[in-house]
Amino acid sequence: MKILVTGGAGFVGSHLIEELLVEGHEIVCLDNFSTGKKNNLNQFQEQITLVDGDIVDTKDLQTALDGVESVYHLAAQISVSHSVRDPLFDASININGFINLLNALLKSSVKRIVYVSTGGAIYGEPPKIPASETTPEAPISPYGLSKLVGEKYLRWYSTNHGLSYAIIRPANIYGPRQDPLGEAGVISIFLGRILNQEPLEIFGDGSDTRDYVYVKDIASICMAAMDSKKNDTYNAGTGIQITLEDLVDTIGEVTSLPYKKEYKEPRPGDVKKIALDITKAKTELNWTPRISLKEGIQYTWDWFKNET
Ligand SMILES: NC(=O)c1ccc[n+]([C@@H]2O[C@H](COP(=O)([O-])OP(=O)(O)OC[C@H]3O[C@@H](n4cnc5c(N)ncnc54)[C@H](O)[C@@H]3O)[C@@H](O)[C@H]2O)c1
Repeated sequence: MKILVTGGAGFVGSHLIEELLVEGHEIVCLDNFSTGKKNNLNQFQEQITLVDGDIVDTKDLQTALDGVESVYHLAAQISVSHSVRDPLFDASININGFINLLNALLKSSVKRIVYVSTGGAIYGEPPKIPASETTPEAPISPYGLSKLVGEKYLRWYSTNHGLSYAIIRPANIYGPRQDPLGEAGVISIFLGRILNQEPLEIFGDGSDTRDYVYVKDIASICMAAMDSKKNDTYNAGTGIQITLEDLVDTIGEVTSLPYKKEYKEPRPGDVKKIALDITKAKTELNWTPRISLKEGIQYTWDWFKNET
């Protein structure tokens, strides 16, 4: 099948492309390289069609969608802090860019889209953890808001134009190729800082919790959601809450290197506690995360030592 992956040169997109190629699909990658890297595609550059373009540009979308049957939409402004500093820019990509893509799909041969939303930022501070898909959405950042609006537009296009879709709401994704210099992706940031003997910055008192899910597990749920014919929304995490302090301990065990912690003020827009209930994905998509946190940090560390 000919498949478009938007944001395919990014961290998650490049892993998804790798897995789709294993299944024998023909891949088109559309990316403007704002945070994505050509390096991420190095191993399989010869096997894919790369469109260096922007989802806000209708012509780029037309080029990328030629003959495509299904789409994974990952291109996005992904930083919560950036969205707080510049909500208009965030919305220009995550809302306007997405609507532009949805309009282009209506003029294409695409039958189904998998949209990678967010589970970590869409529920705000949920009343009950782990949060299920029926927990009211209550984002506290422009990023969470723009992803939620994107979901609502997608459902509108589905109802009014018959587009088949699945929405994936991932928890905090980590793994090889995540940018250690970005503002998102605390595991990569900490591994990068340990390697450079820099202190680990902890925003808040270290009691904040997150649900960390390995990138290959996200690739597999996206593919399971594409194969399912249902129009539906699925959390993708582990269901396990990990405090920042526990995360740092596990990273310390894996790297066996000394490190210092530096406590800073909490960042606006960051939620305090989150983990996702993944019962629905387990029962309806027959998906379960395979990689434990310690294993995943080990794989990520092995990659870091060789690549960065
Ligand atoms: N990393 C996480 O923890 C996490 C968690 C939940 C959801 N997500 C979602 O997963 C998706 C992928 O995130 P990631 O972590 O791989 O980030 P990333 O920044 O590595 O990937 C995003 C990709 O989109 C590209 N892009 C950005 N704006 C674009 C535009 N206007 N036109 C074309 N390409 C554009 C970037 O160059 C990059 O390659 C995003 O939609 C993000 O919101 C990520």
